[in-house]
Amino acid sequence: MAHTGDCFLVPGPVRMNDACLQAMATPVMTARGPEFRQVMAKLNSGLRYAFNLSPSLPEMKSQSWTGEDGYCVVVVSGSGTAAMEMVIANRFRNNDLVLVPTNGKFGERVADICRQFCNVKQLKYDWGRSFDLYELEQQLERGCYEALLICHNETSSGITQDAEAIAEMCERHNVAFILDGITSVGGMPVHPEQWKAEAVVMGAQKCTAGPSGIAAIALNQHCIERIKAIHQQGDANPRYYLDLISALKKGDDDQTPWTPAINLAMGWSAALDHLREETNEARWDRCERMAKGVRDLFTDLGFVLLADDGQRSNSVTAILYPEGVDDAWRTALKDRYETQVIGAQDHLKGKMFRIGSMGETPVEEMIEGCKRMLNCFADFGVDLKDVDVESYFG
Ligand SMILES: Cc1ncc(COP(=O)(O)O)c(C=O)c1O
Repeated sequence: MAHTGDCFLVPGPVRMNDACLQAMATPVMTARGPEFRQVMAKLNSGLRYAFNLSPSLPEMKSQSWTGEDGYCVVVVSGSGTAAMEMVIANRFRNNDLVLVPTNGKFGERVADICRQFCNVKQLKYDWGRSFDLYELEQQLERGCYEALLICHNETSSGITQDAEAIAEMCERHNVAFILDGITSVGGMPVHPEQWKAEAVVMGAQKCTAGPSGIAAIALNQHCIERIKAIHQQGDANPRYYLDLISALKKGDDDQTPWTPAINLAMGWSAALDHLREETNEARWDRCERMAKGVRDLFTDLGFVLLADDGQRSNSVTAILYPEGVDDAWRTALKDRYETQVIGAQDHLKGKMFRIGSMGETPVEEMIEGCKRMLNCFADFGVDLKDVDVESYFG
């Protein structure tokens, strides 16, 4: 059935379903009573599913935050950046050296956060260019790095890193592997255990279609041991609200150290129920189908995609504007066609737009949104051949 109404095709925050919105309208409860501990247990269990970890029961007092694989999930009242800062501030001492290859804004942010807490070697690639894995290997051979951190799915430039190859390198060189999975977890295959990732971070408002302002971390036992050892040695970086030791102490009791984002937790839990019903695999496939359709359609029409072919993201596509078009097109798309995509950041502002294919967006909405985008380009005098948009999303 064709989509009617507005098209919201932004790479997060994405549209929340009614069950998620309703759950956030639940009347107040205390932060320490059994009602909220049950909410946390259910959220933990849903997060373990989204992170692709071994299952846990959604029941309080059942250690819902952990499972057979030894990973623990920690809920953070804050956006994805807070969760990323929490990992970095706690996991490194200020004389540690970490390697951060970047090819977009959010990888650069990972490097910036690291700079606040330790020493950083940033390998800076142009936005959308693949990392040079040979260069990464050479760096790791130096034997001086405590960890390698990446932004797994670079939302600013539409490129997904080859996490499997990088994970294998990290394992060989005995270097911790940490991922910003903020726009990958829930939208494409992420395998924390197989990749032996010490920590993976996700944000609710992206691929899991939860509310903004809440995030989560999956940590393995090695990471937890290192954090505790650094703490015991009195070597830890300054942190208070984002102290992982405090969060880990409360985890067994389905609690958080400070007042949690109670209603956001309820909303996210409902959104994760929906993910479980759809299944990770079906959601990854739907995101891929939408992103592939967008990639094929726009390249066929002569548009240039920013990211290197072969590593283009399934949750966001970055497309350069044709000659003579800028962000006025996006404004017209919103005003005339009730369709929203997002612009570019930093040096690419006004030169590019990005289409999100994540969360619960139906394929029909993507098809309708693309038709409207093409109509809007025609309004701007861009001469495009006639195409059957549906056929690209087969
Ligand atoms: C890959 C990635 N990392 C980090 C962030 C920052 O997350 P937040 O805005 O939730 O702090 C974003 C936001 O778009 C992102 O896409």
